[in-house]
Amino acid sequence: MKALILSGGKGTRLRPLTYTGAKQLVPVANKPILWYGLEAIVAAGIHEIGIIISPETGAEVKAKTGNGDRFGAQITYILQEQPAGLAHAVKVAQPFLGDAPFVMYLGDNLVQGGLHDLVDQFKRKTLDALTLLCPVANPSAFGVARVDAEGRILQLIEKPQQPPSNLALVGVYLFSKAIHEAIAHIQPSARGELEITDAIQQLIDWQRPVEAHQLTGWWLDTGKKDDLLEANRVILDTCTVACNQGEVDARSQISGRVHIGQGSKIINCTIRGPVVIGENCHLENCFVGPYSSISDHVSLINVDIEHSVLLQGARVTNVQQRIVDSLIGRRAHIKAAPQRPQALRFMVGDDSQIELV
Ligand code: DAU
Repeated sequence: MKALILSGGKGTRLRPLTYTGAKQLVPVANKPILWYGLEAIVAAGIHEIGIIISPETGAEVKAKTGNGDRFGAQITYILQEQPAGLAHAVKVAQPFLGDAPFVMYLGDNLVQGGLHDLVDQFKRKTLDALTLLCPVANPSAFGVARVDAEGRILQLIEKPQQPPSNLALVGVYLFSKAIHEAIAHIQPSARGELEITDAIQQLIDWQRPVEAHQLTGWWLDTGKKDDLLEANRVILDTCTVACNQGEVDARSQISGRVHIGQGSKIINCTIRGPVVIGENCHLENCFVGPYSSISDHVSLINVDIEHSVLLQGARVTNVQQRIVDSLIGRRAHIKAAPQRPQALRFMVGDDSQIELV
């Protein structure tokens, strides 16, 4: 069995963070989203992995993720010139996939639990497609399944205005080689994409064995800020292990599960876990509350922050109010006067959001 991870696309929904970077590399608890899927695939015993990349962000994905050695996998990068749809990505990857059955994993999805049960069900029942479904509050934002009383899929519709159920398609699929034939029979959708939902629907129409597996754990589609903060909260809650590889001075108080990376200096701070702090950070006179992820080379001085994600190289100084529920991009700089500021002065990029609450 092989695996195909989709890390192409344009990533418009996390702008401005993804103007300059791949949304799949945005870190959750300081680890790129993409790597969670990669690790789950390797843990299921699949080592031949293709990663779909785009011309805009492919080089960054490649440089960060490498040839797979660090994951115990062989990675082949496959360039998709245009984000022409999930089924189009499979088409582009056909020379890599050959006739092998494969797991397809959307690189911006985070799914709890391993893939063992799915792979097992797929093989045991010699299926042509196995999809993963999860009840959601906003099904119109996803591919949605209509299922019968036994849970068999009757119909799949991409982002329907009137959803037939609350069961969304999670971004993990298993396919036999039959999917290639189905893709050859479909046409681009109204939004101009070759939809994988249409290809699966084609298999259903041909009465090929297609089944759905209902997800019991959590699933996070990390396309938007609040989803990303939620993913960060859940991963920090479940995965953080206390570990200090940095320097913490005697005036600082660290409680709960706090991970501090190499070369980071913590001076006169209170940190309450779960929190993860990357390498070579400088934190001075700060309160860092639960569910905060601080990437490498971040500097925080006289700052009070919680439930927030700061990306690499961000700097925040002298902000008097608590910063909450925030996502601060790479090398972003927020600075206030040491005394109570009298005015606010901004240089804010396109599509940014600032809320003074
Ligand atoms: O997240 C689950 C949803 O993912 C499903 O419920 C939908 O049925 C499915 O179509 C998909 O919808 P999205 O609109 O969320 O897909 P998105 O465009 O965000 O792409 C998902 C991933 O695939 C993302 O990592 C980018 C990558 N991608 C996307 C396209 C369109 C590619 O690599 N190539 C592409 O052409």
